[in-house]
Formats: sequence, C-alpha cells, structure tokens
Amino acid sequence: MSFDANRPDLTVGVIGAGAMGRGIVQVAAAGGMKVMVTDSRPGAALEAREFVGKMLARAAEKGSMTQDDATAALSRIEVVNNPADMRSCHIVIEAIVENLDAKRQLFAELESVVAPDCILVTNTSSLSVTSIAAKLKTPQRFAGFHFFNPVPLMKLVEVIDGLQTESWVPEALMAIGRRMTREPVRLIDAPGFLVNQVGRGFTLEAAHLAYEGIAGFVDVDRVMRDVGGFRMGPFELMELTGLDVTQPASALIYNQFFQEPRYRPNLIMQSRYEAGVLGRKTRKGFYDYDAQMKPIIAPEPAAPAAYPGHVWISPAEPQGHKVLTELLTQIGAKLETGSRPGANALILVTPIGEDATTCAVEQELDPKRTMAVDTLFPMVKRRTIMATPITDHVYRNAAHGLFASDGVPVTVCRDSPGFIAQRIVAMIVNIGCSIAQSRTAQPEDIDKAVTLGLNYPSGPFRFGDVLGPERIHRVLANMYRIYGDPRYRPNIWLTRRARLGVSLLTPEP
Ligand code: NAI
Repeated sequence: MSFDANRPDLTVGVIGAGAMGRGIVQVAAAGGMKVMVTDSRPGAALEAREFVGKMLARAAEKGSMTQDDATAALSRIEVVNNPADMRSCHIVIEAIVENLDAKRQLFAELESVVAPDCILVTNTSSLSVTSIAAKLKTPQRFAGFHFFNPVPLMKLVEVIDGLQTESWVPEALMAIGRRMTREPVRLIDAPGFLVNQVGRGFTLEAAHLAYEGIAGFVDVDRVMRDVGGFRMGPFELMELTGLDVTQPASALIYNQFFQEPRYRPNLIMQSRYEAGVLGRKTRKGFYDYDAQMKPIIAPEPAAPAAYPGHVWISPAEPQGHKVLTELLTQIGAKLETGSRPGANALILVTPIGEDATTCAVEQELDPKRTMAVDTLFPMVKRRTIMATPITDHVYRNAAHGLFASDGVPVTVCRDSPGFIAQRIVAMIVNIGCSIAQSRTAQPEDIDKAVTLGLNYPSGPFRFGDVLGPERIHRVLANMYRIYGDPRYRPNIWLTRRARLGVSLLTPEP
C-alpha cells in the first residue's frame, strides 16, 4: 500500500476530545494537518476546539509560534458530529474511554466508513493493540499511536505494530508523528509498551524495598534523587500520578505478562489504592500535605557526633576498596592496612548486590562491627550505608558520623541486597534488557523513549553502561541468590553482554 504521509492536505480524524484528544488535535493542527474532531458527549468536541484555540493563542503570545500560524492552525480544526463524518480522513486516531469493547465497537463502525487505505490507530495506554484490532476486517492497517500527557509538552509518541500490522502503517506514522513535531519511537505491541514497562522497575522495586522495611518513603526518594540522579523519587512520582492510575496499571501489566515476577506489584500500593489514599489528588498518600499542598517532611536527623578509631576496608570488591580508600583518606580517617581487621576497627564492606550480613558471614568478619557502603554510585551528594541486623550501635553511629563528617548527607538503611539505588537501577536495566531480548524495540529507541517519556537521567542501556554491565549483572545475580526470588534473575540478554564485557548498546551484526 502506498501512503503519502507528507501530502499537504493530510486529514487527521480524532475521536474522543478529552485530555489526550485535545492535545493530539493541537499538535496535528499546529503541524499543518487538517483535523476533524468528534466526541460522544454533546458539546465536548466544540469545547476542545475552543480550548486548543486558547492554547495556540498562548503559544503565539509566548513567541513559540507566529500569530498567523496560530490562526491558521485553528482554522484547520473542524468539529464533526460523529465518526461517520470522517470518511475523508487519511488517518483516524482514537482517544476515547479506556475500554476494549468500546474501542472495538468504534473501529468496527469506522471500518465501514473510511477509505481502504485510511490508517486506524489507538492511543490506548494499557490495552493490547493486537487485541483491539482482532475483530477488524483489515487489522493490517491498524496500529498503536501512544501519546503522553500533556501532549504538547511531551515530545514522545510510541508507534506500535500490532501482530498483523503491515509495515507501511508504522512507517507512515513515524512521518506523521514528526510532522506533529513529536519524537516517534517504534516498537512491537507488548504490555506497557516501552515507557510504562520500564517505569515498573522504578516504582515497584521502591515499593518492594519499603514493604520490607529497608527504608522509609522519604529516604528512598532522597537516595534516588541525590544518588541515582532522578528528578523525582519513586514515591513522589506515584503521589503525582495517583495510585488510582499506577496500581491498576501495574496489576494489569503483571497479569498481561502471565504473572512475570519482575512486574509483581506490592501490597504497599494496593492497600493505599483500596483505602483511597491515592496521593496529591486525595491530599494524602505516601506523604501528608499541608494547606499549600507541600509534603510534610520532618527535617533529616543530624548525623551523630561519633567517629571511629580505626577503619578497615574489605578488599573483597577491589573497585569499592579503591573508592573508599580514596574518600576516607581525603576525609582523614585512620585506615588499617592489614589483611584482616584489627580488634576494635570499624569494618567496612562495599557489596555489589549483596547485603551486609552476607558479606560479613562469607568474608568471616565480625558482624557486630560491620557496616556496608554503596560505592557503585557517585558518593558526592549523598551516601548510603547499611548495618547487619546485629551491628552494634556504636559502630553504626561511628560509620554514620564518619561518612557525614565532610558535610555530605548520609542515609542509613536496613540490611538489603543492593542497598536502595543499586537494586532499583538494576531492575530498570534488567527490564530494559528483557524488552530488547523480546525484540520489542531497539536499545537506542528504548533509551530514547525512557528519557523523553519518563525524564530519567538515562535510559536503561546507558545506565547499565555507565555503571558497568558486569556490575549490574552482579547486583541482580546476588539479589537472586540471596532472596531466591525469580523476580531478580538477570535477563539472559544482559547476562551475555556482561559475560562478553561489551557495551549494552553494541549493535548485533
Ligand atoms: P478523557 O476521559 O479525558 O477523554 C475521553 C473522551 O472520550 C471523553 O471526552 C469522552 O466523552 C469521549 N468518549 C468516550 N467514549 C466515546 C465514544 N465511544 N465515542 C466518542 N467519544 C467517546 O480520557 P483521556 O485521558 O483523554 O484518555 C483517552 C485515551 O487515551 C484512553 O484510551 C487512555 O488510556 C489514553 N491515554 C491517556 C493518557 C493520560 O495520561 N490521560 C496517556 C496516554 C494515553
């Protein structure tokens, strides 16, 4: 089928004029296309056109487009009564209620109205594109076109091939997406597509470690901001989105993947969801809020005024030993250099995916004097340390005081394979690799989608490369060994690259 995505008179139909439909109408019209819009609620499409008119006027005031372009864009938007009026459209984008039957019924109706080469697409965020297309006479011209909210600000659009989609359709959608000034990324239909799938690594792993009592919500958020470099912590993010969105989406993705443990949701989210404690929209979630909607957070407790006599650093992880030796020399700690710790020394271990207990037991160290330090991430803005369940508080305080002695905040968490940041980032990388393994999308495209759609500092593959594929693999392998939970088993795609010692972005010949 030949489809000219760049024809000047390309006409886009948009069905459903809610939050998403309006945004799609705006970017299509601003991109020079003619747009027809309709909605089953009387007056909704007209309201949407007026809303878009205001947005375009504001863009012109701000100077991001000329007044003439804004006027011309608005004049290209036509409100029509129903989908049957869309027969002249070259592409119809559905953005109605998230309900499989409603979407299937709409497309069945549309199929008999539009031309045979008209592309039909859904903006669904959670349903299977293949499944919506299943009842169509021509599923070959059907695909997913997944925009993000708010559409004019979020540049990413996921272009999704259903099982029966012919290649001319996504090829045209990539061009149409660019005409709409979007950054399209192509993938094959999968639960959660790219962005919502990778996002489970961040939020669900945070929920799992909070459920285990390893750290409080605010501590996890602080670590992921200061250590992981994320703009927002996972609990802050869930507060903003609302657990009424995040929890059902998580449960759905888990079930769509036939209960794959990697996507297993957590009771911490489910119980709040059931109680209606959803986040900012209910003024209460993981945080409480004041009258100005600022989260009420107790100030971070000051570090104890304690300091160790002597410090011995385990050489078991050479890289961690080197990093800590440099840092503690700079801080001015008294370092022991013997092959075993002296009688009263504070013992520091630098695990990659292990907990402090495992290190102490396997290295035959005194667990009452052992503290673990996360050296995988830069230790510049915050440091994470953890104790075994029997570390004496004198040694725990000494370690806390030592690492805070140059003014850098310290988070002390309970014993956990992978601390906080190691395990959350390793999950993100592992999920990214499982997407690459299933050939859903290319690594570069997954990274692009994640940075544009989730605002992460890096996508999974670049994160993995910066921290080291072998070390990310080791975090997961150790977590899997210690927990015995297949949730943490390293993906084979990652394992191979870690064993070969190559970048996760290495193209396959
Ligand atoms: P919304 O509730 O703001 O708007 C939906 C609109 O569709 C309403 O105006 C409603 O009257 C209309 N509608 C419902 N059934 C209809 C039908 N049979 N025919 C014509 N119009 C109908 O919903 P929103 O947020 O715009 O979502 C729309 C779609 O976009 C859903 O599939 C959703 O999953 C997806 N989506 C939503 C995102 C979001 O953040 N809100 C992000 C990405 C995708």
